[in-house]
Amino acid sequence: MSAPKGLEGVVVNSTQISHVFGEEGRLVYRGYDIGQLAGKASYEEVCYLLWKGHLPTRSELDALNQAMRSQRTLPDEGATLRLLPKTVDPMDALRTGVSAVAAMLEISGTATYEQALAITARFPTIVAAFQRIRNGQEPIAPRSDLSHASNYLYMLTGDVPLENHVKSLDTYLVLLADHGMNASTFTARVIASTESDLGSCVVGAIGALKGPLHGGAPALVMNMLDEIGSAENIKPWVDNALDTHKKLMGFGHRVYKTTDPRAEILRDMARQSSTPEFFALANGTERYALDELHRRKPDQRLYTNVEFYSAAVLNSVGLPRDFYPPTFAISRVAGWTAHILEQMVGNRLIRPQSEYVGPQGLTFKPVDEREAVTA
Ligand code: ACO
Repeated sequence: MSAPKGLEGVVVNSTQISHVFGEEGRLVYRGYDIGQLAGKASYEEVCYLLWKGHLPTRSELDALNQAMRSQRTLPDEGATLRLLPKTVDPMDALRTGVSAVAAMLEISGTATYEQALAITARFPTIVAAFQRIRNGQEPIAPRSDLSHASNYLYMLTGDVPLENHVKSLDTYLVLLADHGMNASTFTARVIASTESDLGSCVVGAIGALKGPLHGGAPALVMNMLDEIGSAENIKPWVDNALDTHKKLMGFGHRVYKTTDPRAEILRDMARQSSTPEFFALANGTERYALDELHRRKPDQRLYTNVEFYSAAVLNSVGLPRDFYPPTFAISRVAGWTAHILEQMVGNRLIRPQSEYVGPQGLTFKPVDEREAVTA
């Protein structure tokens, strides 16, 4: 019996880490609804929650902060990133940087909490160093007196960031840290199930996140809003896109059949952090797009996904568009590594089958006797 295309609706494992209640529009991390955590818990507290299963006490959080802050530097001080063309996609730079760091730290054997922490702590340093290098600037050394979110923004510019920017980015990092059995997490778990090392699992997950059907959408949302440009152009632009069977970026989800709770929180954040003109354009586009999607495809139950207002929030803290996917990865690595650790408990190799629909019974001919195959 073959599974539905895209494994839609297939339950591939059990997990205690997070769950998307798609019909109810709820996302739960270790028992906490996302609304309980966003804006209240720091990204570091959520890392601890995902890795250890409970929120840290003050002393546990102090120990985690101390460990993460002391492991931010890159073993090669960015030498690997300097070898890359300056035009390379930042996700390719992150993938290469993580692979190099994991090898230089000699991460091997069964995945551990310490390895998860060591890799997570260095994600912002890799991303920020590449931004500096591609702009012909020297990377800025991390500061151990700043939080994960604050230090990331600091390493991009060398300026201590505004408090409201840190708050926005920290909340974004909390919202995106895990999300059930999404494509990149599943990738990480498949690699972990072969008993490969944690670095390899994370590198594979970065590759899965890069695609526009997963983490690559927010820059495309900004491009879409640029193209729309004005309130008057929303209707003709959206109508034309849907008439020509284009997907509207930032809408639709495999699991949510109602509003994504993260999109609701990000909408409020975008309202506060964007210019009134930009928010009016984004919100007007969202409202018209939803009306049209519901009118044209009532059975599909299409709603705004997390990527639509992520774009506005990341734009408002000053990140360049092609840095939205690596910033998503800076958050999601906490979830990936939590899942890798969980996979190793009672692990069984993930090895499904495929339905073979190719030819059978062909007879081999030596190379000089073969005729060209015409299409
Ligand atoms: N705009 C227009 N129509 C859409 C959209 C959209 N954004 N999303 C889905 N549909 C329609 C499809 O055209 C299709 O309609 P049809 O059956 O009439 O042809 C139907 O809804 C089902 O679409 P699928 O692509 O098969 O649904 P799937 O569950 O595979 O896709 C996905 C989910 C990939 C997110 C899809 O909605 C999409 O491509 N959205 C745009 C890209 C995007 O926003 N990506 C970020 C996802 S969020 C995240 O990963 C963090």
